[in-house]
Amino acid sequence: MAATFSSRLGFILSSAGSAIGLGCIWKFPYMAAQNGGSAFFMVYLLLAMTLGLALMSVEMALGRASGSGVAGAFLKLGGPRWRWLGRLPMITAFIIMGFYCVVGGWSLAYLFKSLIGQVVSNDAGVLAERFSALIANPWQAVAWHAGFLGLSAWIVLGGVQQGIEKMSRWLMPALFILMLVLIVRGVTLPGAMAGVEFLLVPDFSKLGFDTVLAAMGLAFFSLSLGMGAMVTYGAYLDVGSDLPASAGWVVVLTLVACLLGGLLVIPPAFAMGLDPQSGPGLTFISMPAIFAHMPAGALFAALFFALLLVAALTSSVSLLEVCARFAMDEFGMSRRRAVLGFSVGMFLIGIPAALSFGPWKDATLFGRNAFDLMDYATSNVMLPISGIATAILAGWFCWRTVESQMRQREGTRRTLLAVGRVIVAMVAPVAIGVILVRGV
Ligand code: TRP
Repeated sequence: MAATFSSRLGFILSSAGSAIGLGCIWKFPYMAAQNGGSAFFMVYLLLAMTLGLALMSVEMALGRASGSGVAGAFLKLGGPRWRWLGRLPMITAFIIMGFYCVVGGWSLAYLFKSLIGQVVSNDAGVLAERFSALIANPWQAVAWHAGFLGLSAWIVLGGVQQGIEKMSRWLMPALFILMLVLIVRGVTLPGAMAGVEFLLVPDFSKLGFDTVLAAMGLAFFSLSLGMGAMVTYGAYLDVGSDLPASAGWVVVLTLVACLLGGLLVIPPAFAMGLDPQSGPGLTFISMPAIFAHMPAGALFAALFFALLLVAALTSSVSLLEVCARFAMDEFGMSRRRAVLGFSVGMFLIGIPAALSFGPWKDATLFGRNAFDLMDYATSNVMLPISGIATAILAGWFCWRTVESQMRQREGTRRTLLAVGRVIVAMVAPVAIGVILVRGV
């Protein structure tokens, strides 16, 4: 990464590139389907626009004020007592990467299969069967997991972040456009409108504390919050740029991507009579139905999975980088050793996740298989705890610094900043704490 981003637009697009990934296109649709559709979406929207936006601004401010990554920022701005809190994100990133690579591997597998013409079909049974054949086969699941991890490691090793960023500037907009095209085809399938209604017409009877906890977990996950990713990006933002506005743009872009993801994946599931609550496979099972109804469907399938793969890679690279950075800074390791060492660790921790849909399906702890457990513990517990820590650090220990980062234009927004402080110092820790405790 260059010392600073060349423009504010570059900064916004890069941050959005880290945020927009499997969270929007894979995770959001099936979680929305499992948690009551529109009610879940509304809660997610609300949390992302309030807590999400506040925390994102704060993370960026901490990064720009300290000029370093999350551990360094906590140490510099909070003092030695905050040292260990800088390590939680690293551990979280490590675990997230374990199951992220499994899903990334599915995308890789589907890209490969669409190239050899094995994806497109209009038979819901066939599609579901093909997907479960892929994820239930231990060798395949682990091999694709390793493949995706290998790609991520290769990118981080080369330090070609520059290249990735340039690439994602073109490919992210391409992904948006392709999604729009596919949505138009998907929602016009007979019966698909029921899916749109399911996603957009609120039904608050479905609301409970676990829905709210799930929505909060997804807000953290999809916005890349609670792991210092945005601290790192903030460190590269030049001094003149308006920070809350930039954070606002990133949040809005991510929300739009999630909405598009939902509109893309859920309606065809309804059109095909698939159970939209089928869980993590939803995207992979329902998308091929769209391709079956378009000219050059196989081509569109390959294009879609290629872009999904790129979106996933731009996110996984940031997760691996967090860990590698830590080993390099803390133990003076070379980039090569740090990346290879962590990759081996991530490969191993990913194995139980990869086997969770096959041989280890019934190996559960707290009623969840390894994949679910890793996902749940990171999104719903570890990321929110980091979020509380970040809010307390910013709101109570270094608000002056944060405030001066927020106030680049003289004389504006004094009241807004006062409100912001109340949100960061009081509302965020209490609200996240309550949802966390009640939800768990
Ligand atoms: N936000 C990414 C996605 O939606 C995943 C991700 C990348 C992430 N970096 C993160 C999640 C940091 C939490 C923290 O796919």
